[in-house]
Amino acid sequence: MDTVSATAELRARASRARCDGRTVGLVPTMGYLHDGHLSLIERSVAEQDLTVVTIFVNPLQFAPEEDLDAYPRDPDGDAAKAAGAGAGLLFTPSVDEMYPDEVLTTVNVTSVTEGLESGARPSHFSGVATVVTKLFAMVGPCRAYFGEKDYQQLQLTAALARDLSLGVTVVGCPTVRERDGLAMSSRNAYLTPGEREAAPVLHRALRSGQAAIASGETDPATVETLMGEVIDAEPLVTLDYAVVRHPRTIRPLERIDGPVRLLVAAQLPHARLIDNLGAAPGVR
Ligand code: PAJ
Repeated sequence: MDTVSATAELRARASRARCDGRTVGLVPTMGYLHDGHLSLIERSVAEQDLTVVTIFVNPLQFAPEEDLDAYPRDPDGDAAKAAGAGAGLLFTPSVDEMYPDEVLTTVNVTSVTEGLESGARPSHFSGVATVVTKLFAMVGPCRAYFGEKDYQQLQLTAALARDLSLGVTVVGCPTVRERDGLAMSSRNAYLTPGEREAAPVLHRALRSGQAAIASGETDPATVETLMGEVIDAEPLVTLDYAVVRHPRTIRPLERIDGPVRLLVAAQLPHARLIDNLGAAPGVR
């Protein structure tokens, strides 16, 4: 695996691969790689000739009071993990390389970004959309792998790739979990042992919503209340939202009569956690 930090070098390597008839896979990350990230890299390696992994903690998607400076970092460990998973190229730009000048252009994706995570983090998705558009523009035509873990983000990236004709196909990949159901996340590193023990309640809430829908519950509000009650029963965890939404548009539903997406977010003393799960009538 080669590591490059210059945009021109990334562009040249990806173009050269395509000229040689090789397919390119892209896995954008903010580093501190865990098995969730590695599942995306491994999927790309299995499906594409060259896998490009990017590690960039993007200041544009952090609000001033958020954890930009505290965000966990492990450059050497990340390089070893990416190489071990079969990545061919690692892109680790500096902030100046990505944003050499004042940013006058930002990308805003509507609809799928409205509500939920935007409620807690109003400028977050604009920062994500802008950096992802830049990475797509630098790498060029490719398949880009994103996790379902960040469900609004996954729908956002698919929409922007399509709407802006970037020649990128977005591939959604399932959430990788710890044995107790907690979705893997770099931010789990912030949790105290007590919080870590409480954190799987998000997954339990999703599973109870899923079970209710599988058994025939068709009212979204009833399922939302049920999921909220599961989270409220855990004293260390404060519910932010627990909702039932359309799986692609992420809009609210009148009635559950097909596949839906259950999404939850909650605040713990040292981290805000999100999770989501698919559900459908009759499917456990
Ligand atoms: P980051 O949080 O590092 O996540 C990078 C990618 O890994 C995202 O596509 C995310 O959905 C996926 N991922 C995280 N945890 C996962 C899990 N447990 N299972 C499967 N996939 C998982 O998301 C970002 O970075 C940034 O917003 C980024 C897209 C890189 C733009 O800055």
